Amino acid sequence: MGSDLQGQIALVTGSSRGIGAAIAKLFAANGAAVAVHGRDAGAVAAITAQINQSGGRATPLLADLTSYDEVEDMRASVEEDLGPVDVLVANAGGSTVRPGPVEDISEDDWRLSLDTNLTSIFFTIKAFLPGMKQRGRGTIITMSSAAARRPTAQSPATYTAAKAGVEVLTKQVAIQAGPYGVRANCVAPETILTERNRQMIPEAVQEQLRLSHPVQRLGTPDDVARAALFLASEQSGWVSGVTLDIAGGSVLV
Ligand SMILES: NC(=O)c1ccc[n+]([C@@H]2O[C@H](COP(=O)([O-])OP(=O)(O)OC[C@H]3O[C@@H](n4cnc5c(N)ncnc54)[C@H](OP(=O)(O)O)[C@@H]3O)[C@@H](O)[C@H]2O)c1
Repeated sequence: MGSDLQGQIALVTGSSRGIGAAIAKLFAANGAAVAVHGRDAGAVAAITAQINQSGGRATPLLADLTSYDEVEDMRASVEEDLGPVDVLVANAGGSTVRPGPVEDISEDDWRLSLDTNLTSIFFTIKAFLPGMKQRGRGTIITMSSAAARRPTAQSPATYTAAKAGVEVLTKQVAIQAGPYGVRANCVAPETILTERNRQMIPEAVQEQLRLSHPVQRLGTPDDVARAALFLASEQSGWVSGVTLDIAGGSVLV
């Protein structure tokens, strides 16, 4: 247990599973009261219970972040349950389409990926930033991906374009909100061994991927959570507008 976020209120979007769940647990273990968010009520309740049972403080939130009305309702709920948010981790997202030629992407697939990965983060920031600026404090962490840092022929273009948008949006927020005491940074993980990836990526492929990283292992949700804790806390008080590659040395840009 640490105390880097003692007394702070944190919302981690997409913390019903995977990377977000690891961030929510680490933030709670470091003293933050945490809002656990997702669309799957059972998964949100399970992570909330794990945090509360291990001595932390957590509250559940359900919202589809592609709807601005739901994002605003979520803000009202968290403010009622815990208070105004000091640390916002806009993590929710994920690739919604399979890789393929750009010209084969359907209009619906393009819009779904942009909504899931970029519009959702814009809506989240739009709802929470005014309060942070008014209070003169806050930290925002957004989620990109190594896929956007160095796209390959195998990367789904809808996802890489959306995540590249997240990085630029984050820089813009850092520039505009810095004078109001708000920092904004982005993290860009390479392949992370979430439960889902462990099941979906065959072991032989995991081994190939492992060897392709200068630090010869794949990342874990805790690797990303520790970087998010650094960016959320005063340890990074003079860091704003950066994209931090969490990639075992495999993204050197
Ligand atoms: N895993 C990796 O290797 C990797 C690498 C680079 C970047 N990333 C990024 O890291 C983030 C988390 O990834 P992950 O692997 O932990 O994903 P995951 O296990 O699939 O979890 C995704 C989370 O986002 C939530 N979510 C997705 N779309 C949403 C929407 N429209 N509204 C509300 N919530 C939504 C999900 O909620 P419910 O499940 O409750 O519906 C879930 O909590 C994503 O932004 C992803 O693009 C992941």
